[in-house]
Amino acid sequence: MEIEYIKTVSSTNDHILVCDRDMALVYSDFQTKGRGQRGNGWESETGMNLTFSFMLKPNELKASSQFVISKMVALALVNTLHLYDIEAKIKWPNDIYVEDKKISGILIENVLSSNGMLSKVVCGIGLNVNQVQFLSDAPNPVSMAMSTGKNHSREQVLSDFCDEFEKLYVGYDFQNSKSVDFSYWEELYRRDAYHKYIDAEGEFIGKIIAIGQYGELIVERKSDGLIKSYLFKDMKYLW
Ligand code: BTN
Repeated sequence: MEIEYIKTVSSTNDHILVCDRDMALVYSDFQTKGRGQRGNGWESETGMNLTFSFMLKPNELKASSQFVISKMVALALVNTLHLYDIEAKIKWPNDIYVEDKKISGILIENVLSSNGMLSKVVCGIGLNVNQVQFLSDAPNPVSMAMSTGKNHSREQVLSDFCDEFEKLYVGYDFQNSKSVDFSYWEELYRRDAYHKYIDAEGEFIGKIIAIGQYGELIVERKSDGLIKSYLFKDMKYLW
């Protein structure tokens, strides 16, 4: 990756979007308009965490297969946190959790070309590194420092992340995503056990039994064995 640092930026996702180079990355100390999923903001104390984005220009990746990139980014984050002995898991679709707390969030924004291929993929990541107090109403935030009891070098963590991502991405055969599918499943939070969820019909107990081809969450309801498939935002986890 080609790494650029900017002290203050509106959003690293917006900054990298205008850049046209594959594997270019920008990180900042502070974003004035950091964006989260579902129109939320992203809280990050100045200079304490990693807020970064990188640009991918994949060859021949269909828009319908975009979830594989999301899986790779999530796996690279989990693998990076494992280097620091942090037991991180992926909460579908791409939040990173430590026990029941969120340590990292991912915001992927795609640019499509006219033939249905992805021409640019902007991967934006917020990873809580050294912040220990969170002021916003973000549910259950946690940081690497809170998990390990010590501070960490942001540059070292970023460099570890780049290594882990490159191991997964460079030379990857997008026609055959089995190895990434398998690792994503292995690292999935709450897989194969009954937990509480809520969907349009109300609360229920269910078990995640698979991830569909396009990244759908496939859940079996305990009460009657009904199997349902969810797209992002169609259901929520309850604790
Ligand atoms: C989430 O809501 O879980 C996703 C958060 C993504 C935040 C990161 S911080 C770097 C990049 N720039 C942004 O504006 N958002 C992403």
